[in-house]
Amino acid sequence: MSDEWLDTIVVARHDATARIVVLDLISPAGAELPEFAAGAHVDVLVDGARLIRQYSLCGPPHDRTRYRLAVLAETASRGGSLGMHRLREGDRLRISRPRNRFGVSDQASRHLLVAGGIGVTPLLAMAHALEAGGADYELHYCARSRAESAFLDELEHNHRVRLHFDDGPDEQRFTVAGDLGPPSPDTAIYVCGPGGFMDFVISAAQGAGWPAEAIHKERFAPTQDTGSPAGGGAFTVRLAKTGGEYEIKEGESVLDVLLTAGVDAPYSCQQGICGECIVRVLAGEPDHRDDILTDRERADGLFTTCSSRAHSPILELDL
Ligand code: FES
Repeated sequence: MSDEWLDTIVVARHDATARIVVLDLISPAGAELPEFAAGAHVDVLVDGARLIRQYSLCGPPHDRTRYRLAVLAETASRGGSLGMHRLREGDRLRISRPRNRFGVSDQASRHLLVAGGIGVTPLLAMAHALEAGGADYELHYCARSRAESAFLDELEHNHRVRLHFDDGPDEQRFTVAGDLGPPSPDTAIYVCGPGGFMDFVISAAQGAGWPAEAIHKERFAPTQDTGSPAGGGAFTVRLAKTGGEYEIKEGESVLDVLLTAGVDAPYSCQQGICGECIVRVLAGEPDHRDDILTDRERADGLFTTCSSRAHSPILELDL
């Protein structure tokens, strides 16, 4: 969790749809806000700091005068999104500095952005950055209907944007074959949206031959198979820097045990989707259950303490 919070003020608020509110935040002193790269998110203290939620920054990254968030009122909200919808102009909001594990690839010269619903938010910032840099990109925005789509005024007239509505004619529906085309080594795909939408796009793209490394993703929630440290036997975590050893019982997460013991371990989402808790494994065999690390990062020894476990009796971490 962030140990450095920024105070901001809601300087503008508008309802983009019946369920999506757009909030512009500025520094109370009128100072520039910290720099961020497209795809970044911030932690937000919601509802009198009772809850912490992550929201992507969707405004242009070159504009340091304000941050823009867009928040969908979740029907199954535990209070986070509804707390954000209750904000009014002039209200104060504490946020973390921006963090990013979903940036624009510097290995690709062509970028295909695929958004499902509110997943458009980080991709909008990417589109701003790619446009400003004169890059070759397309943004595919899939939504239930025009009435449930935000930012249409700024997207509709951009020739690089394709809109796909579930209630529209068949020929405008998004398909991997028709809209992304065959794999190309210089092209990166970026996907963000609800879990089912992301699973559909990623599996269709991989089925069409796109390699996993070409597909960049950001989830708002873990999949059914990931994000949970539940299940699996007990093991011991050893911290290389202090030599401390901690038993992780069945059903406990490494992160919870370390925090309870007073270890200063980094974290944010606690769901295996943000990457803030990643540490390096120095010895032992990890049982990866996150939804953020690539196969290459896992092979390089990276590990999420909030969701992953060990197959070996002892796991030594670079902490
Ligand atoms: S705290 Fe977010 S991935 Fe572990």
